[in-house]
Amino acid sequence: MYQLKSLFIFLAAILAGVGVLAQSDTEKDVASRVDSLMNRMTLEEKIGQLNQLTGDGEVTGPVTLNQDYQQQIREGMVGSMLNVNGAEYTRKIQRIAVEESRLGIPLIFGYDVIHGYKTIFPVPLGESASWDLEAIEKAARIAAEEATAAGQHWTFAPMMDISRDARWGRVMEGAGEDPYYGSKVARARIRGFQGEDFSKDNTMLACAKHYVAYGAPRGGRDYNTVDMSMRRLHETYLPPFKAAVDEGVATFMSSFNELNGVPLTGSRELVRGLVKDQWGFDGFIVSDWGSIQEMIPHGVAADKYEAGDLAMNAGIDMDMEGKVYQQELKNLLEDGRITDVHINEAVRRILTKKFELGLFEDPYKYCDQEREERELLSDDNRAFARESARKSMVLLKNGDVLPLSKDLEDIALIGPLVQADDEYIGTWSARGEGRHVINVMEGFRNKLGDETNLSYAQGASFTGQSKEGFAEALETARQADAVVAVVGESAMMSGEALSRMDIGLPGVQKELVMELTKLDKPLVVILMNGRPLAIPEVDKKAPAILEAWLPGTEGGNAIADVVFGDYNPSGKLTASFPYSVGQVPVQYEHKNTGRPKVEDQRYTSKYIDGPNKPLYPFGYGLSYTTFEYAEPRLSQKEIGFDETLEVSVKVQNTGELAGEEVVQLYVRDMVGSVTRPVKELKGFEKIRLEAGQEKEVVFELEAEDLAFYTKDMEYKAEPGYFKVFTGSSSEDVQEGEFTLKR
Ligand code: NOJ
Repeated sequence: MYQLKSLFIFLAAILAGVGVLAQSDTEKDVASRVDSLMNRMTLEEKIGQLNQLTGDGEVTGPVTLNQDYQQQIREGMVGSMLNVNGAEYTRKIQRIAVEESRLGIPLIFGYDVIHGYKTIFPVPLGESASWDLEAIEKAARIAAEEATAAGQHWTFAPMMDISRDARWGRVMEGAGEDPYYGSKVARARIRGFQGEDFSKDNTMLACAKHYVAYGAPRGGRDYNTVDMSMRRLHETYLPPFKAAVDEGVATFMSSFNELNGVPLTGSRELVRGLVKDQWGFDGFIVSDWGSIQEMIPHGVAADKYEAGDLAMNAGIDMDMEGKVYQQELKNLLEDGRITDVHINEAVRRILTKKFELGLFEDPYKYCDQEREERELLSDDNRAFARESARKSMVLLKNGDVLPLSKDLEDIALIGPLVQADDEYIGTWSARGEGRHVINVMEGFRNKLGDETNLSYAQGASFTGQSKEGFAEALETARQADAVVAVVGESAMMSGEALSRMDIGLPGVQKELVMELTKLDKPLVVILMNGRPLAIPEVDKKAPAILEAWLPGTEGGNAIADVVFGDYNPSGKLTASFPYSVGQVPVQYEHKNTGRPKVEDQRYTSKYIDGPNKPLYPFGYGLSYTTFEYAEPRLSQKEIGFDETLEVSVKVQNTGELAGEEVVQLYVRDMVGSVTRPVKELKGFEKIRLEAGQEKEVVFELEAEDLAFYTKDMEYKAEPGYFKVFTGSSSEDVQEGEFTLKR
């Protein structure tokens, strides 16, 4: 029956030959097929395409019961489902759409494939610390291969919200604090998910989310109000989304938050105006879960009718789990509050993606149980998860303790994360399972065999206040040659609706570590967490600290690789770690103020009880070897608007081990029509150097790289005097200078 239907649609498309909007033959073909299908659709069926419901899989928002969703699909009232997982389940639901609904239009299945599907990679913030765009792209590719084998067409990723506030639980889902780096990571992840061609059976639609400024809620509390200048919005929060459009992202998701009084889901100016009209985005835009009807509690709509009006006029094409469009669009159309141009545009955008995915040729092409069986959690995927996890780790401190020798006889493993499998995969771990995780105990055992005695004591729970376990932990540690404390946050302490007021080590874990430092043993603190933590005391007392994030399925093996020196750590932070929550929001890219801090000078901009600078800055991370930087060399002292400046820097590996280093380039515009940050990242390169080897890294800068939103909100560079910095972190730099000529 399906074949007949699709043949009919295909023939109708050829005969119709109308609505040729696009350029390439394939695009023309898709456009005319969409038009001819739309000619046959009733208004109700069109509205159905704009409706997305959740299935019986896991629930990722406030529970709403859709017991009759199958009936709604049958009646052509649903265009997409989320949380329907697995080849078998998606096939069953797809069959209802294509065989039992009047027009047989296939559904799109969407899901949060954020850092892996079955094989789980480190949480995205951790993964971004690798500064390895190829590896980041590959992890997204693997996630897409697994997810598509399990019936998914569309991931709600990548999240590209910039955030400078570690209290916000969702800082874990992004790429940190910097718009330049965040844009590169967003593009790499989109390339990975979408691959080259949607007609393949292992590529999926990506989604640029959450549009926009969701990462700057007041007080770091999820879903909270955002109030910021348009300049800040344009310079910091919008760039990754623009980069996503340039990369050809297929979909956008509007965010829950309001911005300067307007919920994004109802922002005609920023959604339709900027994304669709100005940037020319031609995919479709989905609301976040219920965010259309949440405009009622936001206080800009009295009821669903008004909320639907705002969202449709703003350009939101699909209503995720809100059921506003389904209920209200017809009334709005009859009353002239919206036009059929709005509805047709949304339907066209959604159907276009369905055609591009090839769902009209084979609606079941992603529902292949055999492939699912074969590809999920394959050895190759696990091997890459291990590589990705070790690349993401950041060595925060090392007083000659790491790497540990494999010949140690007794190692004590202490802390609540040593074997807490479920925590390693973090939240948003799709179909990942704790039972597939290699924990630190297992990773050490795999590495060391039976020769080494590995003892264990939990010592403390994640959040409890009891110190009862301390005595056993200290006794276990006393018996050992070296102590490894694995502490941090449980999975459910970062992610959606998981903001924290206190960003220190939770519970009594800090006290446990402090006790361990008194034993005078080689001590390594391994941190697992989904956000920057404020750990000044641990930094002061512990001899070695390795940030391992929530490292995913292969976490324990990857940690063992780094701890025992089979992998030389190369990660660098992409979000500053503050001394205290009181410094938040904190970022390297700050302004100078009129009274920049001068130590001991009373009337300068500073705290009286701590430093201005974070504990570990953006771009920071150590290695088991050392790198020496020469001063930057500039090809010219002055450049014109059409010239290119070359900034070269020689870096030498002065240690005894081969290693990788992320060489960073920053600039500062010294005088502008508006104040400019003290540093802005403008380039980076990750290089590998053998012991003793030297390499010259050459960066290119053009006027465009120096552009910003001027006093008149024009995006352009202003002539004048600039500083340029090269180095191994945002703090550890050497400088040069040049002039941009008029
Ligand atoms: C709400 C979250 O904000 C969003 O990121 C996610 O994609 C949807 N729920 C669907 O689960």
